[in-house]
Amino acid sequence: MKMARALVGVLVMAVAAVAGPETNGQYEQKHLPYDFDFLEPAIDTKTMFVHWSTHYAGYVRNINLVVAEDENASAIVDKPLEIIQRDITTLGPFARNNAGGAYNHGFFWTILTSVSSSSQMKPSPALQAAIDKAFGSFDAMKESFSTAAKSVFGSGWAWLAVKDGELFVVSTANQNNPLMKGVNGRQEVLIPILGLDVWEHAYYLKYQNRRAEYIDAFWGIVNWDKVSQYFEEFASKGKPVPV
Ligand SMILES: [Fe+2]
Repeated sequence: MKMARALVGVLVMAVAAVAGPETNGQYEQKHLPYDFDFLEPAIDTKTMFVHWSTHYAGYVRNINLVVAEDENASAIVDKPLEIIQRDITTLGPFARNNAGGAYNHGFFWTILTSVSSSSQMKPSPALQAAIDKAFGSFDAMKESFSTAAKSVFGSGWAWLAVKDGELFVVSTANQNNPLMKGVNGRQEVLIPILGLDVWEHAYYLKYQNRRAEYIDAFWGIVNWDKVSQYFEEFASKGKPVPV
């Protein structure tokens, strides 16, 4: 079984090497910071390959098309992906969906790690203090986040996000994220430090319609070192996390 999984890993990486990441434009399709099989068994190798090489690649390709071809795109030319999120809704749904998809996925890969690594990690003292203040406990935060993730109707994301140093759990539809002004009727911007993709493409090959099982497995692969770093170095200082 282990050998078969390793073989699948080698095969998908070979295909990825042929396909290559999207690099043609202002924004790059970032390499995964680990192999496609690194998140097994929480997220399977095939899902990671399809997710990274087709869905994520498409978002990056399309936001580069917006930069190159949209006559109203001057506001986003030469701007980092985390910076253009704020006002991207003014460029219309195609720009919003693809700028969001490129940012959300580039971010998502970085806050995950292997089951064995994650089991050795916990939030930093500063992040834990903020969690306790906002939710009462780590378990209460997890419960709130999981409920938000399970409650997304259709495709979207759940987030742990920061506003003025305070933590909130929010969810967004489609590829929207809390950095976008006007999302969920909010004019203020929140800075995400943890996010979970609950589009079916993120879990359906392994979990089919059992989204709750995928959400439970997610808690076993969170990279708390990275989430803590995002809180302390960026979000608590009012800076969006670069991807
Ligand atoms: Fe996705």
